[in-house]
Amino acid sequence: MMVCHCNAITDKDIHAAMEWMRAADPETIITPGKVYRALGKKADCGDCLSLFLDTMERDPNLEVPLLRTPAMDRIGRARRVGER
Ligand code: FES
Repeated sequence: MMVCHCNAITDKDIHAAMEWMRAADPETIITPGKVYRALGKKADCGDCLSLFLDTMERDPNLEVPLLRTPAMDRIGRARRVGER
């Protein structure tokens, strides 16, 4: 599906760019501007922004995965012990 007519960007282009960005940096915050840059394009009229954001929000790569720290492991262990 065409998302951005000015730049001929499809939903598949957006998902591919987001997958690439998440694989390259698991902690990166993915923004529309970064997706445009990853595709080598620049926003023009901006009419696509709403559909562009909707497409991004449907992609599981939008969320930054939770980082596991030793403190988080201790909290998880304490909760599991408390549940018994
Ligand atoms: S439709 Fe995307 S910048 Fe114009």
